[in-house]
Amino acid sequence: MALANVNQEKSYLNRPKALGITVRRLQFNPQKIKRHYFANSPLMSHLLTALSSTFPIGEQYFVNSVRNVRDKVKDPQLQAQIAAFIGQEAMHSKAHTEFNDAWRRDDYNLDRFQAWLAKRDDALRDIHPKLQLALTCAFEHFTAMLGRYILRHPEILSTLDDDAMKLWVWHAIEEIEHRSVAFDVYQEVYGDDRIRRLLMRSVTTGFASLVFYGTTRLIWQDKWKSLPKVGGNLFGTYLLVKMLIQLIPEYLSYYQADFHPAKHDYTKLVNYWKARMADEYGMISFQEETASKIYS
Ligand SMILES: [Fe+2]
Ligand SMILES: [Fe+2]
Repeated sequence: MALANVNQEKSYLNRPKALGITVRRLQFNPQKIKRHYFANSPLMSHLLTALSSTFPIGEQYFVNSVRNVRDKVKDPQLQAQIAAFIGQEAMHSKAHTEFNDAWRRDDYNLDRFQAWLAKRDDALRDIHPKLQLALTCAFEHFTAMLGRYILRHPEILSTLDDDAMKLWVWHAIEEIEHRSVAFDVYQEVYGDDRIRRLLMRSVTTGFASLVFYGTTRLIWQDKWKSLPKVGGNLFGTYLLVKMLIQLIPEYLSYYQADFHPAKHDYTKLVNYWKARMADEYGMISFQEETASKIYS
C-alpha cells in the first residue's frame, strides 16, 4: 500500500506541467465598475457587456468540447495544457458571472438573453464532438485575436476604470496563453482542416449576430442614458470600425492551410501587461508570479 502511494506520488511528480499557461485568480470589484465603463461610450460598453454575458455559458461549452475527446489525446504535455486551459476558462466563467451579476442590480435584464443563449447551447451540445471542437477552435481564434488587439492598444484600455481594466486585461492575457490548446487537441484527434475552416464561417456569422443581438438589447434597455451620449457613441463606432478593419488579416489567417495559433510569439506583449498588472494595479496573482520567477 505504502509502495503504491510512493509510486503514485512519483508518477504525479513526473507528470509534465503546462507550459506558458498559468491559472490565476482574479481579484476585482465588479460593483465599482460604472455603467458606461468603456471610453464613456454606451455602444462599446454594452458591446463588451453583451460579450461578457455570453462567456459563462460559452466558456463552459469550450471546456466540454475539449473534455469530450480528452481521453483520445496521447501526448502528456498536451494533457497538461488541457488541464491548465480548463482551469483558466473555469476562472473566466466565474469572474464574468460576478461581472454579469453586478449589472442585475440596475435596470438591465441579462437573464432573458442568457436563457435564450442556454437554449442554443443545449442544441449545440447535441452535434458531433468533432464539430463541437471545431466550433471551439474558431471561437478561441476570436478570443485570442480580440485579446491581442486590446493589449496592443493601451490608448483604448486607458479609458477603462481600474476594475474593468483588471477583468479585461487578465482575460485577454489568458486567452493569448491558451490560444493553441483546443487547436492542438483538434489536430491530434481529428486533423480535418476542411471542417475546421468551414466551421469558422458559421462561427463568424453566428458570433457577429449574437453580439449584435446582445448589444442592441442592452442599448435598448438603457436607451434613456445611452442614446443622448452622441459623442461617446460616435467615438465608440469609430473604435469599433477601426478594430474590425485592422483585424481582417489576422482573421483571414485562420483559413490558411499552415495556420497555427502559436505561429506568432506574443511573450513580450503579455509580459509587459503582466508586469503592469502586478505593479500598477497591485494584482496579487501577477505579483506572486513575478516573485516566484525571481526566487526560482
Ligand atoms: Fe476565457
Ligand atoms: Fe479561451
